[in-house]
Amino acid sequence: MQNSRDHFGSQFGVLVAVAGSAVGLGNFWRFPYLVGTYGGAAFIIVYILFVLFLCLPIMFSEFVIGRRSQSNALGAFKKLAPGTGWWGIGILCVAASFAILSFYCVIGGWTIEYMYQSVIGGFSADSVVQNQHFTDFSTSPFRPILWHLVFLGMSAFIVVAGIKNGIEKYAKILMPILLVMIIFIAVRVLFLPGASQGVSFLFRPDFSKITGQSLLAALGQAFFSLSLGMGCIITYASYVKKEESIVKLGTYSSFADLGFAMLAGLAIMPAVFAFGISPSEGPSLVFVTLPLIFAQLPLGNIFAFVFFASLLIAAITSSISLIEVVTAYFTEELKVSRRLSVAITSAVVVVTGSLSALSFGVLKEVKIFGKGFFDMFDYLASNILLPIGGLLIVIFIGWVLSKSAVKEELSSGGRYKVPIFGVVMFILKFVAPVAIALIFLNSLGFLKLF
Ligand code: PHE
Repeated sequence: MQNSRDHFGSQFGVLVAVAGSAVGLGNFWRFPYLVGTYGGAAFIIVYILFVLFLCLPIMFSEFVIGRRSQSNALGAFKKLAPGTGWWGIGILCVAASFAILSFYCVIGGWTIEYMYQSVIGGFSADSVVQNQHFTDFSTSPFRPILWHLVFLGMSAFIVVAGIKNGIEKYAKILMPILLVMIIFIAVRVLFLPGASQGVSFLFRPDFSKITGQSLLAALGQAFFSLSLGMGCIITYASYVKKEESIVKLGTYSSFADLGFAMLAGLAIMPAVFAFGISPSEGPSLVFVTLPLIFAQLPLGNIFAFVFFASLLIAAITSSISLIEVVTAYFTEELKVSRRLSVAITSAVVVVTGSLSALSFGVLKEVKIFGKGFFDMFDYLASNILLPIGGLLIVIFIGWVLSKSAVKEELSSGGRYKVPIFGVVMFILKFVAPVAIALIFLNSLGFLKLF
């Protein structure tokens, strides 16, 4: 069985692929505007605590499930708990992948438009004009859909090539480039006059800003950013060889993701403050305020191009992991060829992604549960499907899979010591399920705790 499946070729390859999945629009587009909306440093502190004490153990859990079963997100549960209904998590995973792809590819497409605008010098230093540019573009029925198709096509192209020759190969090239580019931008921004205000916004907490909503937002963002709760890490881990240390892989990739989020904050917030813009701009923060800033910087077009190219790279290495969740499921459970699986997945996302893209303009009035398509897919994935998926996964590892199986997998069959095993199991059994359930129920209004 193990030999008939594709595998990652090297440890570095797995690391950049998993980090590539984690580091994405979540870090560069979502994290900065959530930090702005939910009050800066206090949100960051809560976020970091969630990453370290909840998400890291969940990351290990997904690695255990994937590597042990060597199966897609649905097959994994069938193999590890045969004859039970746990495979239902797999359905949730596939649904979450589609939900995320449906808005992710639209923003991925926006980054291409913005690279193009940087080249033709299309940004204006006048906020009214620049705002109008963004509105004209995002509400147009044509260009956002076109770019979304281009973005989806590029991602599909990589996934069709397979694990070693597609996903791993491109992650190895793209991730180091991404790191260099984003450091370049952050350093430039930190030298702007007035940048220090943005830095203190990132590092000086105001805990009165912490509410039930902001806790769920931080939890949802932590899951989203680390690609957890939806089978992505399970799927990638199923291509990891038995001798690799999954504790090391999980830890390194989580820290890489956290590091990129901080870098993104440092690249964006100081610029926002230096130019006297409100940090709580929402989803348009990166697409309205940053072009404004780039338009006023010497050589701004070059910085703009590098910035939006970074966003594109980050987005592609993530969208391929989303497509792979569905592809692995189709090929292994439904016995469809890889090419056809990717084609079917893409065809669905062409439709749902177009609905999202149009929800800024033509379909603005169409609401589902009070939200347009784009917001609905985002909310459904991050605030509902991922926390539920994460909750079920921790219960599965904490209470269903045998402790010895978990230990064997975490230690790679006894090859590595796992000194933190007791702590991880305690979190998975008790802390994580209770914490996730409380935050989730509280924010949906079923509980009135905080
Ligand atoms: N982690 C990615 C990001 O931060 C998004 C993602 C979520 C990718 C879930 C795969 C699975 O952009």
